[in-house]
This record gives sequence, structure tokens and C-alpha cells, in this order.
Amino acid sequence: MGSGLVTGRILLTGSSGQVGGELLRTLAGIGGAAGRSEVVAPGRAGMNLADADSVRSVVRAVRPRWIVNAAAYTAVDKAESEPELAFAINRDAVRVMGEEAQRVGAGVIHFSTDYVFDGAGTRPYLETDATGPVSVYGSSKLAGELALTESGAAHLIFRTSWVYGATGKNFLLTILKLAREREVLRVVGDQYGAPTRSRDLARMTARAMGRLEAGGWEDLSGVYHAAGAGETTWYGFAAEAVRRMQEKEPGVRLARIEAIGTEEYPTPARRPANSRLNCEKLAERLGWRMMDWQDSVAEVIAEL
Ligand SMILES: NC(=O)c1ccc[n+]([C@@H]2O[C@H](COP(=O)([O-])OP(=O)(O)OC[C@H]3O[C@@H](n4cnc5c(N)ncnc54)[C@H](OP(=O)(O)O)[C@@H]3O)[C@@H](O)[C@H]2O)c1
Repeated sequence: MGSGLVTGRILLTGSSGQVGGELLRTLAGIGGAAGRSEVVAPGRAGMNLADADSVRSVVRAVRPRWIVNAAAYTAVDKAESEPELAFAINRDAVRVMGEEAQRVGAGVIHFSTDYVFDGAGTRPYLETDATGPVSVYGSSKLAGELALTESGAAHLIFRTSWVYGATGKNFLLTILKLAREREVLRVVGDQYGAPTRSRDLARMTARAMGRLEAGGWEDLSGVYHAAGAGETTWYGFAAEAVRRMQEKEPGVRLARIEAIGTEEYPTPARRPANSRLNCEKLAERLGWRMMDWQDSVAEVIAEL
């Protein structure tokens, strides 16, 4: 099966976010250059995902061939006290996208999270493993997955983890800022997962859409794990970022990074201890291997 050109109008949500911002660039590049697709990216003011009617009317007006939903309620801790809003954005809006896509034969690309799992497993999770979210955010994202699947629309759901890049609000940029300000940074060292570069996700998505064009949506529809290759902890991620930054800027004094246990850093939302995702299905069915997380960190630091 080859990789096709993406054609038709793409309705992209979340273009002011980390993944959506990269998607805007990547998708405009692949379709625009060949003049075969057009990206419409309305933003929150043009399409409010907290309002199902707004979602429905924009989808009907745009008449996309693809809906790429990179928007989400992503404030994991705040979601514990705003469950209605989290579910409206992460479940109800996604259900409407699925219903509308099914009506006109459009495909939906959607992003989900490692937080659909409880984290008690001892190996990287497969797509077929039982879910069991331990937070409102995780529950709302799982509900969105189910709503999209039940809509009957052709879809790809990419579960990713620990997303970061050279721009946006993310862990790596926060750590580097704090490392300049403090002597010591204490970072959780007993939650395991993999950092995922937003640009890698966007490139993978464009490639997957091309595959769908070429190879039949029905066969490929479903859930895929898409996280950086390898594994580490938040402590390991922070230490690697600071080490790379120190190499780049030897004259700058950066904080020492120390590992702490989850119980020493209490947060409103619980997080899974094991966030590792097995990404073999993505490689086998969609032909994409995500970048090694350490290589991505090196690239992002070089870009800063
Ligand atoms: N970040 C991670 O570590 C991570 C991990 C696993 C999975 N994911 C998933 O990956 C996807 C992309 O995440 P991200 O990191 O790119 O998120 P992000 O940087 O927080 O961006 C979220 C985007 O959603 C938009 N949005 C939020 N509420 C909205 C509303 N009511 N109406 C319209 N737009 C709204 C935001 O727009 P405004 O700029 O207007 O707020 C922003 O563009 C999400 O599905 C997320 O659940 C992320």
C-alpha cells in the first residue's frame, strides 16, 4: 500500500495549540503545494468546542473531507473541578464531529491520551488493553474516543503522551525556564512514559492521512498509539533537557535536577505510573515509527 496525496478541504481545530500549530504548518505544506487540499482552521472564536451547536454549524458550513481535531480541554488538574466543561469539549464536541462526518462521508483524525489507562500495567500498553482512567481528563478523553467510534465515521484516534515542542505551553519549556531561576529542581521520577514531539505527531498524521487516501479508510480506522520511541520518567526528561541545554550554553548556570516520588508532588488529578504506549500497530499498519525521544529533545533544544 502506497502513501497518497491528501485531497479535499481539511477542517483543523486547535491550531493555536501545540499539536494543532504543527498540523497547520504541515497540512498546509502537503496539500497546498500541490493545490489539492485546503486547510480551514477557525480557532476558538470561530468554532467553540464547548458549544455543540457551534461545532455542528461550522462543520456543515465548511463541508470538509477531513476533520482534524487537535483541540481539547487539556488542563489535567483543573478538569477535576470543571468536569462538565471537560466532557463538553472532549466528548460532546467529538461526538458531533463524528455524526457530521458520517453524514457527509468525511474522515476524522482525533487525538487522545495515555491517561485513558490506570497505569498499573507493567509493560507498554497495547491499543487492545483495558482502559481505566483515574482522572476526569482521562475519563473525558476516553468518552470522546468512544463517541467517535460509535458515530460510525471513518476515523483515526492517536493516543499520545507527554507532548512538547519548541513553542507552546509544555513541560520541557517550563523546566528550562525554572532551571535558569533555581538551584535545584525536584521532578517526579516514578512515572514512566515517553516524551512526544509535536512536530513528529503532525508529520505522522499527514502521512497517515495520505495512507488512508491510498488504502481504504474502513480497513485502517481505529485507535493507534503514537508516542516517542523509548521510555523515561519526568525526572529523566528534565535531566536530559537540562543536560542538552548545558551543552549548548556551557556558560549558563542551570539547576541540578533531583528525582522525587509522586507522593512528594501532590496534584489534584492522579496520573498513571505507567504511561508507556506500545506503538507497533502504528508502524505496521500506517508505516510510521515515532522518533526516539532523546533525538527529539536534541532537535528541539537546537531549535530554541
Ligand atoms: N499535551 C500533552 O502532553 C498531551 C498528552 C496526551 C494527549 N494529548 C492530546 O493531544 C491533543 C493536542 O494537545 P495539545 O498539547 O496540542 O493541546 P494544547 O496545546 O493545550 O492546545 C489545546 C487547543 O485546544 C483549543 N481549545 C481548547 N478549548 C477549546 C474550545 N472550547 N473551543 C475551541 N478550541 C479549544 C485551544 O485553543 P485556545 O488557544 O483558544 O485555548 C488550543 O488550540 C489533545 O487531544 C490532547 O488531549 C496531549
